[in-house]
Amino acid sequence: MLSARHITKEFKQGKKELRILKGLNLELGEGDDVCILGASGTGKSTFLQILGTLDRPTQGQLFYRQEDLFSKSDDFLAQFRNQKMGFVFQFHYLMSEFSAVENTMMPGRIAGWEVRDCRKKAEKLLGMLDLSHRLHHYPSELSGGEKQRVAIARALFCEPEILFADEPTGNLDSQNAKNIQNLFFDLKKNFKLTLVTVTHDAQFASRFTRQLQMADGLWVTPGAGW
Ligand SMILES: Nc1ncnc2c1ncn2[C@@H]1O[C@H](COP(=O)(O)OP(=O)(O)OP(=O)(O)O)[C@@H](O)[C@H]1O
Ligand SMILES: [Mg+2]
Repeated sequence: MLSARHITKEFKQGKKELRILKGLNLELGEGDDVCILGASGTGKSTFLQILGTLDRPTQGQLFYRQEDLFSKSDDFLAQFRNQKMGFVFQFHYLMSEFSAVENTMMPGRIAGWEVRDCRKKAEKLLGMLDLSHRLHHYPSELSGGEKQRVAIARALFCEPEILFADEPTGNLDSQNAKNIQNLFFDLKKNFKLTLVTVTHDAQFASRFTRQLQMADGLWVTPGAGW
């Protein structure tokens, strides 16, 4: 479904070129679950951003089914992401001036859906994530685990095919981390999601069907991404 071919990424740092990703391949099928592991600074987040079309590579291609994504405009990609992809990060990135339900329905509003429909759907999703009693709380009135659950509800709002998560439990205590980890696998089953997660948590990583280890911008095992 999603196929990354020889992705490289370089950053200009003054006069120097920093070569971060050195030719990564990844083949994702529908319903796959993959985690990406590796030491800090190896390029995991950079690669995830490119897989999610949030950033463009220096070289390489990304295909969604037959479509060559980086040959498309930024506007096309923004709309594509809104419909097909969900993102959860280590930090929740909720908007502080909006309530849980308003944050959750944001992707629907961006997609141009009616407020009433959005609100109904957001309430249903938050209910599924055990947050029915926190619908009108603002982020500052939610616990860390609750905020992360709202961020997950928001990521699921447009029913993405692929959910990307970058250290989604990195900021949580062990009990909340465990709850969120269980939630990911429940959601994968219930929403038939394809799951790509970066994590430093070995126990979480062990639950994924595929573990890809990155070091210095390459997979440690040659050919691992296929
Ligand atoms: N915009 C940028 N400009 C210059 N260098 C960058 C930029 N973004 C990332 N880097 C560098 O690229 C390298 C990889 O960063 P990345 O965030 O992908 O690492 P990571 O594997 O996710 O690490 P961590 O586990 O700490 O999150 C780092 O050395 C970082 O400093
Ligand atoms: Mg990172």
